[in-house]
Amino acid sequence: MEEIPMLEKVLAGLNKAGVVPAQKHLFVCIGPDCCASTEGEVLWERIKARVRETGLSVMRTKAGCFRVCVGGPWLVVYPEGTWYGAVTPERFEVILSEHLLGGVPVERWVVARNSLGTPAPQAD
Ligand code: FES
Repeated sequence: MEEIPMLEKVLAGLNKAGVVPAQKHLFVCIGPDCCASTEGEVLWERIKARVRETGLSVMRTKAGCFRVCVGGPWLVVYPEGTWYGAVTPERFEVILSEHLLGGVPVERWVVARNSLGTPAPQAD
């Protein structure tokens, strides 16, 4: 079996992660301290499935802790830096529809904002 050169492996990985076309990056804390790990995993599986189904150009990353450690599961949407707490699969459906597809954050569930130096888009 011929070995694939490292650069090709890296490019394949970047392609699989959707780095180049991505318009947003979803970070999800799946516990175990801000929520039960089982609750976080259920949310993560829903996010994966719905991103796949909708064909959104987003990267997604699950994490073990954002150091908030209460009020999770947490979802942070970049580049806006919109922090949502207590995200359930049902809430994610609303966030998906209104924010990720519609471009308007779901204000009633936004807990914090930090775009890390990038001006956050303003909803009018
Ligand atoms: S375990 Fe989720 S923020 Fe710490």
